[in-house]
Amino acid sequence: MSSVKLCLIVARARNGAIGKDGDLPWRLSDDLVHFKTTTRGCPVIMGRKTWESLPKQPLPGRDNIVLSRDGQYGAPGARVFTSMSAAIATGRALAIAGGKSELFVVGGGAVYTAALPYADRLYVTEVETEIDGDAFFPEFDPAVFQETESRRVEADDKNQFDFTIRTLDRLA
Ligand SMILES: NC(=O)c1ccc[n+]([C@@H]2O[C@H](COP(=O)([O-])OP(=O)(O)OC[C@H]3O[C@@H](n4cnc5c(N)ncnc54)[C@H](OP(=O)(O)O)[C@@H]3O)[C@@H](O)[C@H]2O)c1
Repeated sequence: MSSVKLCLIVARARNGAIGKDGDLPWRLSDDLVHFKTTTRGCPVIMGRKTWESLPKQPLPGRDNIVLSRDGQYGAPGARVFTSMSAAIATGRALAIAGGKSELFVVGGGAVYTAALPYADRLYVTEVETEIDGDAFFPEFDPAVFQETESRRVEADDKNQFDFTIRTLDRLA
């Protein structure tokens, strides 16, 4: 068994929405800080649409891995794979080479759905709003993933909504 944990990191609304029109549906400054701190130095796997939504490509300080069914897709600064299993295998190898114990799946909806069966840990930011979104985080079984940590952040001028950052670990 690999010692590298496969972690999904997401911010979702109460109705599971995570995106709208190719973008994040909120401005949550402290959640972006949490994302940067948690994923720092670790490989990140993302879908082609999330890659295209990044304000700056690649995400700095992390090995970027992009999934596309188009093997010719060009993503300068990233490695492109056409299958989740190949992306995870390379991500694990890069994490080990970099001395990291976590490999992240950073979205979007299609890629979270494909990766959830392999996830060891979920970092879920529960945003206290309902959003008319077009991308969603998949349902997961609360009997399989158990909360091990949680921290609440109140809305303010930099965070549009109240939210709670939760860590959930797969029960062995
Ligand atoms: N709230 C959050 O935490 C969060 C995080 C990330 C993204 N988002 C949002 O989510 C939305 C994007 O999500 P999305 O579901 O539309 O797109 P996505 O998952 O980012 O990308 C989908 C694309 O990835 C490729 N792909 C997906 N699964 C694959 C597989 N198993 N094998 C090979 N390639 C695969 C395909 O690319 P090709 O079409 O090129 O074949 C597919 O069209 C945006 O609104 C973004 O802002 C939110």
